Amino acid sequence: MTTTESKDLGAEELRARAAEALTRARARSDALTDAVDDEDLIRQHSKLMSPLVWDLAHIGSQEELWLVRDVGGREPLRPDIDDIYDAFQHARADRPALPLLSPAEARSYVREVREKAFDVLERVPLGGRRLTEQAFAFGMVTQHEQQHDETMLATHQLRQGDPVLHAPEPPPARPGTLPAEVLVPGGAFTMGTSAEPWALDNERPAHEIAVDAYWMDTTPVTSGAYAGFLDSGGYDDERWWSPAGWAYRTGNGITAPRFWKREQDGWWRTRFGVYERITAAEPVVHVSFFEAEAYAAWAGRRLPTEAEWEKAARFDPASGRSRRFPWGDEEPGAEHANLGQRHLRPAPAGAYPAGASPTGVHQLIGDVWEWTSTDLHGYPGFAAFPYQEYSEVFFGPEYKVLRGGSFGTDAAAIRGTFRNWDYPIRRQIFAGFRTARDAGPGEG
Ligand code: AVJ
Ligand code: FE
Repeated sequence: MTTTESKDLGAEELRARAAEALTRARARSDALTDAVDDEDLIRQHSKLMSPLVWDLAHIGSQEELWLVRDVGGREPLRPDIDDIYDAFQHARADRPALPLLSPAEARSYVREVREKAFDVLERVPLGGRRLTEQAFAFGMVTQHEQQHDETMLATHQLRQGDPVLHAPEPPPARPGTLPAEVLVPGGAFTMGTSAEPWALDNERPAHEIAVDAYWMDTTPVTSGAYAGFLDSGGYDDERWWSPAGWAYRTGNGITAPRFWKREQDGWWRTRFGVYERITAAEPVVHVSFFEAEAYAAWAGRRLPTEAEWEKAARFDPASGRSRRFPWGDEEPGAEHANLGQRHLRPAPAGAYPAGASPTGVHQLIGDVWEWTSTDLHGYPGFAAFPYQEYSEVFFGPEYKVLRGGSFGTDAAAIRGTFRNWDYPIRRQIFAGFRTARDAGPGEG
């Protein structure tokens, strides 16, 4: 589907797509919550996360707010629980103490909301107001559910106990050697979008931005390369760390990526309840921005800016145009990228040649979220829509932008333009990084 085609979609086709996307998100929410017993749904597995049952009912609460009440103009189902499931009213650490719906109540609540939302989807005119144009509100609510599904997957990773989630192994690296880095030419390109129907407010509007030529890692930094940084004493050498990063590392006793442990025979990690040796060829995951920044300095490089990341992911030098995805305008398929929790880990570097960009950058979409050096801000011409709390309230220097999605991100919740953000100390998210460096004079 190209952006142009999607504009011409008839209302019935839009409704069918929205219904399919909502149904897929719900199958995933159900699988993530059915995988554990009630006690595990109510428990807080980490202070950083909500109980899984909070995420589930919060998904329903947001759907009720936007699709049933706002778009549908229907009566509230449960106005009494609005406050409990308002993320801004209660910090994650405080949510277990709230009078939450029980697992059974949460499940029937989200089911009732979904029935009403489907009724609204069948009847409401698509258009006439911006929320319903291109079925935007349905796309927004789908993405919200998928974002919380990824958050619930991160909660599963923090959970102690035997494995309850299972998935096939990702594809192996394809034969052949990739260059370590590729040159992305300098010049202006189009960043962001005004056309993508389900793009969220912070991805808008499309704008031209000049970027100097730079060298970009062909793939995300692997666990093997990262172990080289660890084994050469990089965590004990203040030279590689920013002052804030050093204070964070020393103040919290950080000695390796989250979930890693040094054994006599090398590095091991816990992954969804399985204790295993790290896989050298796989992108490193569960590192903070500060660790990513330190690794890059140790390697004589730096993190890419957000604009550099997006140019590598979207710019096609042959046409001068920005694509929807590195491989072109088609929706992500299994051959392009490791998305959608199809696998429970990143795929080895070089596993997705069909997903490479025109300049030869691989695995920009899927596998691991990639830290950039850029603080979250609105693009020139930004306008909050439909609510300031989605992204505008987070603009500022405290949050770093992450790009590209992880193995736990659904295709419905990722685009070449999609922007994620988090605190630079965060490690429970499925985040890794790649590095870059300025091109020399006469290069690119
Ligand atoms: C965009 C992933 C940072 O999970 O905090 C979920 C998405 N916003 N509910 C988050 C979100 C409201 C958000 N991130
Ligand atoms: Fe939310």
